[in-house]
Amino acid sequence: MLDVTDEKAVAACASQIVSDLGAVDLAVFNAGVWHPMSASKYDMAKAKDSLTVNVTGVINALDPVMRTMIARGAGHIAIVASVAGYRGLPKGAAYAPTKAALISLAESLYADLRLKGVKMTIVNPGFVATPMTSVNTFPMPFIVTESQAVDAIMAGLKRGGFEIVFPMRMALMMKTLRLLPYRIFFWATGKISAREPPAP
Ligand SMILES: NC(=O)c1ccc[n+]([C@@H]2O[C@H](COP(=O)([O-])OP(=O)(O)OC[C@H]3O[C@@H](n4cnc5c(N)ncnc54)[C@H](OP(=O)(O)O)[C@@H]3O)[C@@H](O)[C@H]2O)c1
Repeated sequence: MLDVTDEKAVAACASQIVSDLGAVDLAVFNAGVWHPMSASKYDMAKAKDSLTVNVTGVINALDPVMRTMIARGAGHIAIVASVAGYRGLPKGAAYAPTKAALISLAESLYADLRLKGVKMTIVNPGFVATPMTSVNTFPMPFIVTESQAVDAIMAGLKRGGFEIVFPMRMALMMKTLRLLPYRIFFWATGKISAREPPAP
């Protein structure tokens, strides 16, 4: 199994794929970890693990793949972030910053890559029922199945726009949250944080 945090192994894998199969038309960077974490249970090792897998892992793969795509003036890169990257949310202290970084990374590269003939897409799912979310004990509004997520991602990749975000109701809720001024936003997130039982 390839560990995306191993820079050399990822670079070797990327060149092996090109030599075995030819140029990459579409690369989807999907590996990620979720460590739910509030301030009272902050765990530095897990926070660093989130950063290493979710951000450094993508950068490790992005570098060799993007170079070859730019060189041939074609290709499509999709990075899986999350609507959790829109704003800092309770329990998201380790995860949300990594997804915000990926959204910013994709936005930063988009225009430049487009001029070079390479497409960039950011995938921002809401809750999807996978092993990742099976640990969650809190309500997960509008959660979708894996196959619904796959359908939404495949349809979005075919459309070829910058952002794939689903399901629609979660997208609307999270995009609205993004517009709230801090006073109202922290009033709302404070209600969610207050539900957490005190640390033992
Ligand atoms: N589920 C959701 O509600 C949700 C919502 C928004 C965004 N996302 C994002 O969607 C992506 C997929 O998540 P998922 O829900 O399918 O979670 P998952 O079932 O836990 O799958 C995570 C995947 O990442 C791989 N991975 C983790 N660390 C890795 C590493 N160091 N090197 C290589 N692969 C590694 C895992 O491989 P192994 O199984 O071999 O460990 C697994 O295939 C993640 O980026 C996640 O943040 C998920």
